[in-house]
Amino acid sequence: MLQTERLRLEPWQEEDWQAFRPIATDPRVMHFITGGEPWPEEQTRRWVRWQTIVYWRFGFCMWKLRPRGEDRLIGFCGLQPLLVEGQADIEIGWWLAPDLWGKGLATEAARRALEDGFTRCGLHRIVAVAHRDHAASIQVMKKLGLRYDRDVVYRGTPSVFYLAEHNARPPG
Ligand SMILES: CC(C)(COP(=O)(O)OP(=O)(O)OC[C@H]1O[C@@H](n2cnc3c(N)ncnc32)[C@H](O)[C@@H]1OP(=O)(O)O)[C@@H](O)C(=O)NCCC(=O)NCCS
Repeated sequence: MLQTERLRLEPWQEEDWQAFRPIATDPRVMHFITGGEPWPEEQTRRWVRWQTIVYWRFGFCMWKLRPRGEDRLIGFCGLQPLLVEGQADIEIGWWLAPDLWGKGLATEAARRALEDGFTRCGLHRIVAVAHRDHAASIQVMKKLGLRYDRDVVYRGTPSVFYLAEHNARPPG
């Protein structure tokens, strides 16, 4: 389990899909994921099951997020394998319950997940992909120090591809 000042980052249990369901069915959360369509129950179950497998296989996952001292599941942030235009990578990603947006929580969790990826997990490169109009998510990437790499088409949508490399020197 990882922690930050305000958050706990934990692996998933299969039964967590129920607590995650309000987030995966909220049109505000799903706006840049599906165009606002809620995930059906089976997809939510499958995604949570997938995260248990990712954790078992790699030792990281899209960590489930809880505020420290509370039981409420408020979203996820972490790492998982990703294939973009035929290239395999490890991506960092984040979804948060809308009542908690704008408090720096995604950035706080992602900093910890990124650091863990580069140190404990020994990764050399972590990428992030967002819809090109998703200003909040792109801002999180920038705050983490990821750099723009290229435009891509991801799941049929025009997207931007950012990346961070371990021990990479800032340009200049
Ligand atoms: C993306 C998401 C996780 C951000 O969570 P968050 O906790 O609000 O993020 P943070 O507070 O750490 O940072 C958000 C930054 O984006 C900025 N931002 C938010 N909305 C913005 C907008 N419409 N235009 C420009 N900047 C925006 C905030 O001001 C903040 O930057 P700042 O600290 O420099 O002011 C949250 O919006 C979310 O869950 N969205 C739905 C799921 C999703 O789309 N996930 C990403 C898929 S790629």
